[in-house]
Amino acid sequence: MMAGLLSNLRNTMIVSFILALIIVAGYEVHYGSTDAIFWQAVFRWLHVLFGVMWIGLLWYFNFVQIRKMPEVPAELKPGVTKYIAPEALFWFRWAALFTFLMGVILAYNRGFLVQAYTLGFMEKPVSAPHSFIGLGMWLGTIMFINVWAFIWPAQKIALGIVEADADAKAAAGRKAMLFSRINTLLSVPMLACMTMNQTIFG
Ligand code: HEM
Repeated sequence: MMAGLLSNLRNTMIVSFILALIIVAGYEVHYGSTDAIFWQAVFRWLHVLFGVMWIGLLWYFNFVQIRKMPEVPAELKPGVTKYIAPEALFWFRWAALFTFLMGVILAYNRGFLVQAYTLGFMEKPVSAPHSFIGLGMWLGTIMFINVWAFIWPAQKIALGIVEADADAKAAAGRKAMLFSRINTLLSVPMLACMTMNQTIFG
């Protein structure tokens, strides 16, 4: 029974979400309300859930795939480009979109969406909490735009999902790699903003 469950990803994830929802319900019961604060907690969970999937796959590409590809024998490369990478990119780009959406909802829920995106400068004196989280939100937003405007279109060409000649494929592969590297560069400072703000500023 257990082995049957675990050998099927969909069923495993259904059980995983059921367990999570029991916990969410537990919080609701003990908190006693489904007000804005409760939803803030739920969206924070979902934001980090999608964020981990996105950045986890970004780091898979950069720490594992891009580094090891040059060593993979030519006849084995299609195993990565035709099977592994397209699947990884599917979860990667949708996780990026949902991380961004949940982040925007979180900022709106907390009442600082505009204040943060304007880096605290709408307030007098300038709001440090909004500057810091706004910086993180900009870094994350730039990373999100890089995924959908540059990495994914370039990967479609590089991986042969859309037709192109060999030169165009090589150029697209290089472009995708560089934008992926930019996102890796931005990922660490972005996470410093995301994770430190609440502890320091509440
Ligand atoms: C794409 C653009 C993003 C936006 C607009 C955004 C927005 C936000 C906002 C508004 C918060 C709440 C901060 C607070 O309440 O003080 C937050 C927290 C957080 N974000 Fe993001 N975020 C983005 C990307 C990411 C990414 C890629 C990750 C990767 C894992 C991430 C991980 C986190 C974490 C861990 C927290 C802290 C949650 C907590 O302390 O409870 N965010 N984000």
